[in-house]
Amino acid sequence: MRRLHNELDLGPYWLPFTANRAFKTNPRLVVSASGTRYRTDDGRELLDGMSGLWCCNAGHSHPRIVEAIRNQAAELDYATAFQVGHPTVFRLAERLAAMAPADLDAVFFTNSGSESVDTALKIASAYHHARGEPSRTRFVGRERGYHGAGFGGMSVGGIGNNRKAFGTLLPGVVHLPQTYDLEHQAFSRGQPTWGAHLADELERIVAVNHASTIAAVIVEPFAGSAGVLVPPVGYLERLREITLRHGILLIFDEVITAFGRLGAAFGAERFGVVPDIIAVAKGITSGAVPMGAVLTREEIRDTVVDNAPDAIELFHGYTYSGHPLASAAAMAALDVYEAEGLFDRARDLEPVLEEALHALADKPNVIDVRNIGLAGAVEFAPRDGAVGARGSEAFEAAFDRGVLVRATGDIVAVAPPLVVKEEEIEIIAAVLGSVLDELG
Ligand SMILES: Cc1ncc(COP(=O)(O)O)c(C=O)c1O
Repeated sequence: MRRLHNELDLGPYWLPFTANRAFKTNPRLVVSASGTRYRTDDGRELLDGMSGLWCCNAGHSHPRIVEAIRNQAAELDYATAFQVGHPTVFRLAERLAAMAPADLDAVFFTNSGSESVDTALKIASAYHHARGEPSRTRFVGRERGYHGAGFGGMSVGGIGNNRKAFGTLLPGVVHLPQTYDLEHQAFSRGQPTWGAHLADELERIVAVNHASTIAAVIVEPFAGSAGVLVPPVGYLERLREITLRHGILLIFDEVITAFGRLGAAFGAERFGVVPDIIAVAKGITSGAVPMGAVLTREEIRDTVVDNAPDAIELFHGYTYSGHPLASAAAMAALDVYEAEGLFDRARDLEPVLEEALHALADKPNVIDVRNIGLAGAVEFAPRDGAVGARGSEAFEAAFDRGVLVRATGDIVAVAPPLVVKEEEIEIIAAVLGSVLDELG
């Protein structure tokens, strides 16, 4: 079989979050995609069990999104966002504000999840500065949280490997304990019932540091990159109560959870907890053009803006904030989500994915299966002296059998596009099952 990668010089490209030497000895290339399927460079179909990377919620190359990008590129390819706007970005902001919970009606555009997180942290800091409490500079993250690859996101993130080579990061950051506990939560379906009390650790952090030093707490409604760690019943509610009591902003990093993954526009809606700031990206354009956004309560935006009436109020932004192509792609993606009822569809498929994944509970070496929305994970016991080996071998074996999943350590995560069919969910689970049977 002719392999396209044999004609490519694989040398110069340095792949992100990838074991580059291993990749280049056994490269995996995709050359096209449509709906739930990729095509590989050797002509095989690959069922996308990961929505690309938690982003292609409407499936790949959706004709409506493709057309919107094409038309926008022909009409207005770029407009500076500093002191100048264009109509599509205003329409998009209006639409996101209408979708957002409560009064999170101010929208700041970025180009990625990492930029959304850094923007959210900066807005939180600027807000306290503007309202006369500049001592509130400390951020609280969470163990095993992932908030992107910027220095801000890495600092509040809680995954050691992501931080170890990068020095001391932002000063003053403290971390809540993770919400996951194998002993008390293994094989939970949906939200585990044990663990709401883990939010009380925030009271201890406040007692040690004093509320007047803390700007914001940032968490993912469910932690995706760390392997689908689902919040215990009552946990997010308790974080909200404690942050409100102490004047601390609550930021939800909804880069993965917004736009349907949880069967709702936002995780905030699914869990019935309204934060002060929501960071989004990925599904906002269904992954078709990079874009992120930060939604804040209007009062937060107004406080910052009113503090500097006739000048630039927030010295922050990006060359590509609200890029016309991204804005057009986002408008089209939101159209598709609505027209095809994809958020409801995710909710309807949740029990199907739950059943399919939990049926793997008795496979060799499986120590946990968990799920929420259209996302789930299977965790394996690590092999002696080779933590993570089973996870990456499972990923590679599934890829070879035509299914794309995501491995993180000894966890395999699944999060298919919201257009996935029930039979395709069964295929993903069956392939994982056969891989697990054969993995040593
Ligand atoms: C919760 C969360 N925040 C931030 C990010 C970073 O997004 P990006 O890779 O677009 O910078 C991710 C990426 O997976 C994420 O899952």
